[in-house]
Amino acid sequence: MSKLIQNEFEFANQQYKYLMKTVPADQMPQSYKNGKLITKDISWWCSGFYPGSLWMIFEQTKDPEIKKEAEQRLKIIESNKTFTRDHDLGFMMFCSFGNAYRITKNPEYKNVILTSAESLSTRFRPKMKAILSWDKMADFKGPVIIDNMMNLEMLMWASQNGGSKKLKEVAVTHANTTIRNHFRPDFSSYHVIDYDVNTGDVLSKKTFQGYADSSAWARGQGWALYGYTMMYRMTKDRKYLQQAQNIAKFILNNPAMPEDKIPYWDFNDPKIPDVPRDASAAAIIASALLELGQYSNGEEKSRYILTAKQMIVNLSTEKYHAKLNENGGFLLMHSTGGLPLNSEIDVPLIYADYYFLEALKRYKDWYL
Ligand code: GLY
Repeated sequence: MSKLIQNEFEFANQQYKYLMKTVPADQMPQSYKNGKLITKDISWWCSGFYPGSLWMIFEQTKDPEIKKEAEQRLKIIESNKTFTRDHDLGFMMFCSFGNAYRITKNPEYKNVILTSAESLSTRFRPKMKAILSWDKMADFKGPVIIDNMMNLEMLMWASQNGGSKKLKEVAVTHANTTIRNHFRPDFSSYHVIDYDVNTGDVLSKKTFQGYADSSAWARGQGWALYGYTMMYRMTKDRKYLQQAQNIAKFILNNPAMPEDKIPYWDFNDPKIPDVPRDASAAAIIASALLELGQYSNGEEKSRYILTAKQMIVNLSTEKYHAKLNENGGFLLMHSTGGLPLNSEIDVPLIYADYYFLEALKRYKDWYL
């Protein structure tokens, strides 16, 4: 694994130098399709993953060209710190500025994170006891999606690093509400819970990106696993650890998990195995399992680490992994963003690369 990880970071360094040449100055890379790089503006939920990936690559390779691009990319998303139109600010600002601050300790980066956390917390709705993910829309009045667990990391971090203590209360309250309402008895997660914003009543349990309301959308299970593992790290409350271990059981024992451990896009698509994979789900789950392994013992611990290792090794094979200067400059192929929306099906996605790099770093830091 030591050689694989070193090779991967060296490869990523080269591959992202190729990607970097094609990304417009005011845009962020999203994907690559039919020979064309697809980019988005900075208010897109994924705008932090490209800078975050650059910082993780720089951390390992110390390449000044990568650092320069990483710094430049932070500059263009900094104005997101007051963004309040949806819940994605944690993804946008903590995956980017969080890594940058961890590596450089630049106090300006910390201030950006603290402001971003305050902005995110304005979406907390006391009656719902949760952060509103999206504003009211045609199908939903007060939607909260499982993905929202990921944004709590920035709130927790801010409350422990000079920010208001209220940010922790918001995060903990949201995590507790999500345990109550988002999970089925087998610990699979619904995608969207629609709340009455005025009473906090659950109006419906739905999906937006999954196969069916009752199905287990693969990336959503990854967000849940990662989210509760992180909440255990941040609070040491054992109910979050228990929740994460139960979610892990659902994922790892799932009969629809393929031999190579790269999940199909939804665990319940009846057309499995003739459906797309989601390499991003594998990368998120691998990174989360490596952290959960830190807090677990015995057979459970070994199983988490072994499965994460299988995921990393398989993502590094040519079935999922790009060749140099191909795949538009992304590292991984075969992710699926929103199949029912007919969007981003079986393509590279920037966040698959981000969580793959994070999993490599975690394996190196904790298990080599
Ligand atoms: N957070 C959006 C997604 O996972 O597609």
